[in-house]
Amino acid sequence: MGHSRVTVVLWMSRFLSFFFLIPLASAVTHEIPAQWTLVQNGTTGVAAMQLSVVSPTLAIIFDKVEHNPLQIGNHSAWAALYNFETNGVTPLNLTSNSFCAGGTFLSNGTLVNVGGNGVVSPEDEDQNGFQGLRIFEPCTDPAGAGCTVFDDPTTVRLVKPRWYPSAIRIWDGSAMVIGGTAAGGFLNTAGSNEPSYEFFPPKNNSIPIVSPFLQNTLGANLFPLTFALPDGTVFIAANNQSMIYNIANNTETRFPPFPNNVRVTYPMTGTGVLLPLTPPNYTPEILICGGSNASDQVLPSTLSSQTPASSQCVRMVLDEAGIAGGWIVEQLPVPRIMPDSIILPTGQIMFVNGGATGVAGYGNVPDQIGQSNADNPVFTPVIYDPSAPAGSRFNSTGLPASTIARLYHSTASFTPMGNVMISGSNPNLDVQTRKYATEYRVEWFNPPFFDLIRPNLSGLPKNILFGQNVNVTVSIPAGLDLSTLQVALMDLGFATHATHSTSRLVYLSTVLSGNTLQITGPPNAGIYPPGPGYIYLVIGGVWGAGTQIIVGSGGAPPVSS
Ligand SMILES: *[C@@H]1O[C@H](CO)[C@@H](O)[C@H](O)[C@H]1NC(C)=O
Ligand SMILES: *[C@@H]1O[C@H](CO)[C@@H](O)[C@H](O)[C@H]1NC(C)=O
Ligand SMILES: *[C@@H]1O[C@H](CO)[C@@H](O)[C@H](O)[C@H]1NC(C)=O
Ligand SMILES: *[C@@H]1O[C@H](CO)[C@@H](O)[C@H](O)[C@H]1NC(C)=O
Ligand SMILES: *[C@@H]1O[C@H](CO)[C@@H](O)[C@H](O)[C@H]1NC(C)=O
Ligand SMILES: *[C@@H]1O[C@H](CO)[C@@H](O)[C@H](O)[C@H]1NC(C)=O
Ligand SMILES: *[C@@H]1O[C@H](CO)[C@@H](O)[C@H](O)[C@H]1NC(C)=O
Ligand SMILES: *[C@@H]1O[C@H](CO)[C@@H](O)[C@H](O)[C@H]1NC(C)=O
Ligand SMILES: *[C@@H]1O[C@H](CO)[C@@H](O)[C@H](O)[C@H]1NC(C)=O
Ligand SMILES: *[C@@H]1O[C@H](CO)[C@@H](O)[C@H](O)[C@H]1NC(C)=O
Ligand SMILES: *[C@@H]1O[C@H](CO)[C@@H](O)[C@H](O)[C@H]1NC(C)=O
Repeated sequence: MGHSRVTVVLWMSRFLSFFFLIPLASAVTHEIPAQWTLVQNGTTGVAAMQLSVVSPTLAIIFDKVEHNPLQIGNHSAWAALYNFETNGVTPLNLTSNSFCAGGTFLSNGTLVNVGGNGVVSPEDEDQNGFQGLRIFEPCTDPAGAGCTVFDDPTTVRLVKPRWYPSAIRIWDGSAMVIGGTAAGGFLNTAGSNEPSYEFFPPKNNSIPIVSPFLQNTLGANLFPLTFALPDGTVFIAANNQSMIYNIANNTETRFPPFPNNVRVTYPMTGTGVLLPLTPPNYTPEILICGGSNASDQVLPSTLSSQTPASSQCVRMVLDEAGIAGGWIVEQLPVPRIMPDSIILPTGQIMFVNGGATGVAGYGNVPDQIGQSNADNPVFTPVIYDPSAPAGSRFNSTGLPASTIARLYHSTASFTPMGNVMISGSNPNLDVQTRKYATEYRVEWFNPPFFDLIRPNLSGLPKNILFGQNVNVTVSIPAGLDLSTLQVALMDLGFATHATHSTSRLVYLSTVLSGNTLQITGPPNAGIYPPGPGYIYLVIGGVWGAGTQIIVGSGGAPPVSS
C-alpha cells in the first residue's frame, strides 16, 4: 500500500496543481491528504436487508414484509430499486415474503432471489415465501422503468422450504442453493434443518442432494459462507467447520475446525472472502473474519448482548501446501459480529458494519437493546491488505467513522461508480424508531481520489468470452505509474447477513500499447462463473468507474435432467 499511496498523493497534487494553475513544485509541498470521505445521501424506503447491484445505475433491495414507509398499491413495499443517479427509490411489487432470502445472478444476467418466510401481514397481501424463487430479468432502463420481479410461488418455486439459505452461481452459470431452515428459530435444529443443495435450473430431476456437512454443523449453520472455486468445486463454511464440496462426484473434503472454536455463520455471523484470483495460477485463498465463540448448544437466554464478538480472522490457501498448513490466524483490530467485507479493485478488503458484542438476530438474549441481540456498533471501517506482511495488514488510518449503528440486517456493496454503499440495520420484528432503530439512511465511503479525473476505459464489448482478447481505449491521467496497471473483473455479489454471495475479483491479463489496452477474458468458467460483472482499470492504487460486462455468451444456464 505504501508505494501506491505515495503515487496517488503525487498524482493528485499534480492534478490539483494543474487545476488551480499552481506550479507543480509548490503543489508537491502542499500534500493532499489521502483521506476517504463518508457522505450520507439517500434513503432506501424499505429496510435494506438484502442488497445487490443490478445495473450501472441501480441496486435492488429486498426486505421482509413489514411496515416500511415506501408504499406500493395500498400497502408497504418490501423490495425496491435504488437509483445511484438520483438517490431515489422505486418500490417493487413482490408477492411472497422475502424475509432472509438469498440471491445470485445466473449466466444470462438474470438475478434470482431464493427462499424466505411465511405470511406475516395479510393486510399487505403477502404470500408464503419459504420456497420463493423470485426472478429479476436484466434491467436496461437506467431508472428501472418497466423492470419488475416475477414472484409467483404457485408456478415457480424452490423444491424445499428454505429460510436463511445461501446461493451462488457455479461454473455452468446456474444457481446452487445451499441449506436453510424450514421453520423459525434462533438456532437451527435437526427438526427444521434443510441440509441439502438444490439448483436452478434444476439438476438431478429436482431431487435435492443431502449434505452431511450441513447435518453436522447444527445449530449455527445458516447462511453458509460459500464460494465457487476455480476447479469447479465449492468451498462451504458453517458454524466452526468448513469443507470443499465436489458437485461432480458428491464428495466432501473436510478441513480442520476453525481455531479457538469460533463460529462464523448465523447467529454467530462472521464474513468470508475469496481473495483476488491472480494470473497465472489463480490459486484460491479464503479469508473469514469475525463471528463469535459463544456456544450454539445453550438456550439463547444464557447468551448476552455484551459478550465480546470474535476478532479472529482465519486464512488458508486452497492448494496442497496451504491446506497442509491449516488455518492461519490473524486478529481484526476490533472484534466484530456481522461485519461486511467489501473487495476493492486494488485487492484490499474493506470491513464495515457490525457490532463488537453480542450475536446476530433479534428478540432472543435477555439483555437485548430494544430487540437487538448485539450492541456496541463498530463505526470505523478497516482495510486489510492481503499482500502486506503479516502483522501490518489492517489499517484504519484516514478512514472516517460513521455515527450510524449498522447491526443485524445491515448491508454494503461496492458500486459501479467505484465507492462503497452502506445500507440497512433493523434488529427488529417490525419497523422501530427506538434504539436500535430501523435504518433507512444510505452512506457512501468514497476513496480519496473519487472526485478527481480517474483512469477509465472505453470500447468494451457487451460480452467477453473465456480467453478472448479484446482491445479497449484507455484514458490515464498523467503521473500515474503505468507499470502498476491492472484490470479488475469484479462480481459485486449479493449481500445479506454478512455474506457477499458470488463476490469475487479476477485480475485479467493485459497488454498496453499506447492508449490501446488488450484485455484477455478469464481463462475458464471455474475462475469466473459465466455471468455479469464490472471491469475496473486500476493504476497506482487509483481506480476508475466500472464498466458492465457479461462474461461468457450470456446464454441461459443449461437445463439438465
Ligand atoms: C402486484 O402484483 C399482483 C400480482 O402478483 C397484482 O395483483 C397487483 O395488482 C400488483 N400491484 C401493483 C401495485 O402493481
Ligand atoms: C445527494 O444526491 C443528489 C442526487 O444525486 C444530489 O443532487 C445531491 O447533491 C446529493 N447531496 C449530497 C449532500 O451529496
Ligand atoms: C388493497 O387493495 C386490494 C385490491 O387491490 C384489496 O383486495 C385489499 O383488501 C386492499 N387492502 C387494504 C388493507 O385495503
Ligand atoms: C440424485 O437423485 C437420485 C434419486 O433419483 C438420488 O438417489 C441421488 O443420490 C441424487 N444424486 C446425488 C448426487 O445426490
Ligand atoms: C471426487 O472428489 C474428490 C474430492 O474432491 C477428488 O479428489 C476426486 O478427484 C474426485 N473424483 C472425480 C472422479 O471427480
Ligand atoms: C464445534 O462446535 C460443536 C458444537 O456446535 C462442538 O461440539 C465442537 O466441539 C466444536 N469443535 C471444535 C473443534 O471446537
Ligand atoms: C470465548 O473466548 C474468550 C476469550 O478467549 C474466553 O474467555 C471464553 O471462555 C470463550 N467462550 C467460550 C464459550 O468458549
Ligand atoms: C495506513 O494508512 C495510512 C494512511 O493512508 C498510511 O499513511 C500508513 O502508511 C498505513 N499504514 C500501514 C501499516 O500500511
Ligand atoms: C490489439 O491491439 C494491438 C496493438 O495495436 C494488436 O497487436 C492486437 O492484435 C490487438 N488485439 C486485438 C484482439 O484486436
Ligand atoms: C476519461 O478520462 C479522460 C482523461 O483522463 C477524461 O477526459 C474523461 O472525461 C474520462 N471519461 C470518463 C467517462 O470518465
Ligand atoms: C435466464 O435464464 C433463466 C433460467 O433459465 C430464465 O428464467 C430467465 O428468463 C433467463 N433470462 C433471460 C434474460 O433470458
